[in-house]
Amino acid sequence: MLSIQIEKAAKLKPLPPDESQLGFGRIFTDYMALADWSRERGWHHGRIIPFGPLPLHPASTCLHYAAEVFEGLKAYRRPDGGVQLFRPRENARRMIASAERLCLPALPEEEFLHLVTRLIQKEEAWVPRAQGASLYIRPFILGTDETLGVHAAERALFGVILSPVGSYYREGLRPVGILIEEKDVRAVRGGTGYAKCGGNYAASIRAGTIAAEKGYSQVLWLDGVERRYVEEVGAMNVMFKLGDRIVTPALTDSILPGITRKSCIELLRSQGREVDERPLPVDELIDALEGGALEEAWGCGTAAVISPIGRLAYGQQEYEINGGRIGPVTQSLYDTLTGIQRGLLEDPFDWIVPVN
Ligand code: PLP
Ligand code: COI
Repeated sequence: MLSIQIEKAAKLKPLPPDESQLGFGRIFTDYMALADWSRERGWHHGRIIPFGPLPLHPASTCLHYAAEVFEGLKAYRRPDGGVQLFRPRENARRMIASAERLCLPALPEEEFLHLVTRLIQKEEAWVPRAQGASLYIRPFILGTDETLGVHAAERALFGVILSPVGSYYREGLRPVGILIEEKDVRAVRGGTGYAKCGGNYAASIRAGTIAAEKGYSQVLWLDGVERRYVEEVGAMNVMFKLGDRIVTPALTDSILPGITRKSCIELLRSQGREVDERPLPVDELIDALEGGALEEAWGCGTAAVISPIGRLAYGQQEYEINGGRIGPVTQSLYDTLTGIQRGLLEDPFDWIVPVN
């Protein structure tokens, strides 16, 4: 295991006074974890140092060629005051898959857990106590080669920063409006859609901005080949209740394999519900909207948790789902998932990893 040096901060920041006003990703804690990688030495120089700017050479490949991957997970405060993580090994493994796609070095699962856990232990006081709030953990790997040549990384930096957060959407658990995007695509076959890399998000911002101007929280992406199959939402996977069945797009190389998605599927199946992972044509969705078979829709992701979709727009038409209200399956998923995450409910799936 990497040894981790600790550099003490001269002064600590005050904790946020009002946990109902955290927003998402605007406040950062006192420390961050870093480790360096080079082709000759592998991973080395693990350290926890005061949070602050990173010294980066202006030619660093992360700045020019988007040589970057990241992760997102959360630490939760239990009712007994302890702190726990939700399925962190899944994030470690997905980061390895993302790094492989971007020709960045993979950080072994045990090292990922070790660095994240040590940092959370140090910053334990920053894990919020308020309902709906948590400590968002953002690990990342940057390509730091100091050259303008385009090639696989020879040098890289792993980092972890922490941010106490409330809900991702201003709406909280109130249903959001989503616009089905018909022009831009997020990912293509053979591309990087399944990897959690910054480039995917850069390319998504134009459509998201236009949707926001029209009053929608995010876009629903269609596949990049035919623009016919539903893929996912901006920062969430997506699920629909069509009659008695729950339907979610089957994973392809253009969809991010969400950990919340996987957990929802496991939860729903454990409750005896039928969940279909299959290609979902947008026409089928529209028919179901028009015919009343689409009873509920929600997005699922770490930042947003479970986000009910109350309005869905396609072309000039806007459809309301479940009268614009959260549906019973969506509500029950939210309650069960957040209950397990916060230690209010038992964890029969072995998803929780205590930090202290
Ligand atoms: N899809 C995209 C594009 C995302 O950014 C996210 C968020 O991480 C997800 C899906 C959901 O993934 P997870 O549940 O692992 O957070
Ligand atoms: C997450 O849910 O962790 C995300 O990645 C969303 C992020 C892009 C804000």
